[in-house]
Amino acid sequence: MDFENNENRIITPDFTETDKDIENSLRPKTLNEYIGQEKVKENLKIYIDAAKNRGETLDHVLLYGPPGLGKTTLAGIIANEMGVQIRVTSGPAIEKPGDLAALLTNLNDGDVLFIDEIHRLSRAVEEVLYPAMEDNALDIIIGKGPSARSIRLDLPHFTLVGATTRAGQLTAPLRDRFGVILRLELYTPEELAEIVKRSAGILDIFTEDDGALEIASRSRGTPRIANRLLKRARDFAQVMSNGVISRDNAKIALGRMEIDEKGLDNIDRLMLTTMIRNFNGGPVGLETIAATIGEEAVTIEDVYEPYLMQIGFLAKTPRGRVATPLAYKHLKLDQQTSLL
Ligand code: ADE
Repeated sequence: MDFENNENRIITPDFTETDKDIENSLRPKTLNEYIGQEKVKENLKIYIDAAKNRGETLDHVLLYGPPGLGKTTLAGIIANEMGVQIRVTSGPAIEKPGDLAALLTNLNDGDVLFIDEIHRLSRAVEEVLYPAMEDNALDIIIGKGPSARSIRLDLPHFTLVGATTRAGQLTAPLRDRFGVILRLELYTPEELAEIVKRSAGILDIFTEDDGALEIASRSRGTPRIANRLLKRARDFAQVMSNGVISRDNAKIALGRMEIDEKGLDNIDRLMLTTMIRNFNGGPVGLETIAATIGEEAVTIEDVYEPYLMQIGFLAKTPRGRVATPLAYKHLKLDQQTSLL
């Protein structure tokens, strides 16, 4: 397996082509159908009800958190609950200020504009967004040099829903223009088991409760991974037994995919063993880890670390990353393993 390419990693939370059709059929359409993220849901419901009661558009919403937790799904739910259309785009897709101007002028009153990876907007594009978010206005410069002047066009009222894996990378002026900022958390195994059962129902996959929980507890707190593992576990169940996903055949399937009981794959294990063997368990800097295992620092930070920290295998300190005693124990390594 080529781990250089994240798409080949069965537990990458990144969105891949194969996820597209599954995710669309599995996406909950209402807050009631959406499992987990209870705090986010409760608050969002209040903001939506209040805006609807006042007959206003919802304030701009920023969703942030690790990939694969349902930011796009929530944006769709917001539009659906508000009874409006959603336009979906992403930071890197909006190359020029004119691209954003075209999107904004084509919105209908009240629509949701969803910008995924909003931290990747260019400065020039961001500047078009400020008056749009604040005053529903588009400033257009006509002419060049001393005779240039700016005219202001009115835009429809809209709700911007921005999503990012890294709120810290947003510029302060952009962050300040969001009235609602919501942080998505990794899901618990129990919540993920509910999601797996719901997905299995939609996809006509038979799962026993234990089987669903087995998949859930190895999905790194991420629904996108849980849904992907569910489909692969079905393949194993179908070919190796009666098609029903039980705890036993889920275990076999996950073992064959080299995902261990904690949901770690080869890269997680490589990262932790490298830290332990080469750096005495840390503290070691992110860039050093990245260079040693041949992964990008941002990928390590966005994709691998949140889960390793949640399960208590990795700690961030001011002097760098540290592998915890739990990580040593899980990997069956002891303090003498270091090469130092
Ligand atoms: N599918 C993916 N994420 C989900 C969630 N949070 N609730 C229900 N189904 C989902």
